[in-house]
Amino acid sequence: MANETNRFQAIISHCKEYGFIFPSSEIYDGLQAVYDYGQMGSELKKNIKDYWWKSMTQLQDNIVGIDAAIFMHPTTWKASGHVDNFNDPMIDNKDSKKRYRVDHLIEAYSEELKAAGQEAKADEVIAAMEQLLAKDDFAGLKTLIEDHKIKCAISGTCNWTEIRQFNLMFSTEFGSTVSSEDADNKVYLRPETAQGIFVNFLNVQKTGRMKVPFGIAQIGKAFRNEIVARQFIFRMREFEQMEMQFFIRPGTQKEWYEKWKATRLEWHKSLGIPAEKYRYHDHVKLAHYADAACDIEFEFPMGFKELEGIHSRTDFDLKQHQEYSKKKQQYFDNDIDPATGKPYGNYIPYVIETSIGLDRMFLAVISHAYEEQDLSTPEKPDSRSVLHLPAKLAPIKLAVFPLTKKDGLPEIAEQIMNDCRSEFRCFYEEKDAIGKRYRRMDALGTPFCVTVDHQTKEDNTVTIRHRDSMQQERVAISELKRIVMDSL
Ligand code: GAP
Repeated sequence: MANETNRFQAIISHCKEYGFIFPSSEIYDGLQAVYDYGQMGSELKKNIKDYWWKSMTQLQDNIVGIDAAIFMHPTTWKASGHVDNFNDPMIDNKDSKKRYRVDHLIEAYSEELKAAGQEAKADEVIAAMEQLLAKDDFAGLKTLIEDHKIKCAISGTCNWTEIRQFNLMFSTEFGSTVSSEDADNKVYLRPETAQGIFVNFLNVQKTGRMKVPFGIAQIGKAFRNEIVARQFIFRMREFEQMEMQFFIRPGTQKEWYEKWKATRLEWHKSLGIPAEKYRYHDHVKLAHYADAACDIEFEFPMGFKELEGIHSRTDFDLKQHQEYSKKKQQYFDNDIDPATGKPYGNYIPYVIETSIGLDRMFLAVISHAYEEQDLSTPEKPDSRSVLHLPAKLAPIKLAVFPLTKKDGLPEIAEQIMNDCRSEFRCFYEEKDAIGKRYRRMDALGTPFCVTVDHQTKEDNTVTIRHRDSMQQERVAISELKRIVMDSL
């Protein structure tokens, strides 16, 4: 555990040092649970987005994408149930005044038990918590906390308040003419992107002439006033989601739910991350809209945690929007129902949702890729920090180094850059020894580096170095583009 904590800290430092992630507004000491992606991080994040978008839209026959606004009519959130139900049970420590999400407090205690070798007891506590959460049994949860003498990390006491619910939505005021006291003026920052899809269901279905089953995908920001925001970009107050709502015929939800569970796990594995880093976790306590739900969990440095949710959302959302907007949200299905020999007719579709946090995916990818490699020989101690990123996700695909700054070598290197940069991202560097330049690229996850040397002038070949094996080979300049493209 201590090793994993150190590794997590090393990953956070690496992200900062190499321009992947910075604390937001750092010159003012940062803003809790808000982060900025730097020059390398924004590239990696964009590549993850593109990979998801392509596999969820371009490679599918029946899924299209949209980009809905963050602000939505406030009634959206009344209809969706978020105003009344998007709450987390919280408890305050009376001595430290620190507020905890009840499930996080108990989970942290269970981790402590595991670290002390009490695995069985840790599992027992989690099972008891899940049962009580499923019943919204706050008195029972408080008793669980008290029975186990779970302490506040700050005060070290068990002096707890009653458990209460807190809504997680951020709100702000719209426009300037109406008083801010006016409730009609209040808008929310969306806590999930899904509602932008639901309210556009008929727009897309009609204008796109979509036939059930079909899906609508979206990538965008979401905001949650997480009370206990921690663990770097795992739990943020401003984050990005990649969501897809798949609209289906009522009664087929079980089959589609299983299909999307399997499809999404395959997507994760297609990145080359070993299967044992993932597992399913079926929900005991279902969200207010779901009839079945599970998480795809990933083994982050702090243990297995939720990375993606697959939810069978029934017709809850569309039905609610129909009721609140007074606009029909029905679809006419003219396929023949074999049971009746007649068209299925009008219905409100059921929905299977896949919802993955982009920032969590970033953390999964980077934490799996990060390695501190010991390269010492009996003669010389040596090490390197390397990101074994899949080539298609790497921020830079090819680094080009002239061996020296003279003899026409920079000109050849620049020519290679100009030939390749329209296909993939390249990086040019002529400063420092070649070994040092290689190490910097390893730390950024660049899969290929080429060195232009004096032999290049004679035979148009360069040395290409492979990041993971550190093997070098001589290849023709004319082959470079193909080698890199093949790896993508
Ligand atoms: N539309 C369904 C929905 O929003 P969710 O399980 O609350 O479901 C989906 O969230 C995904 O969004 C999670 O699996 C996680 O990856 C990501 N996510 C949720 N809250 C987050 C937060 N505070 N910070 C970063 N990612 C978050």
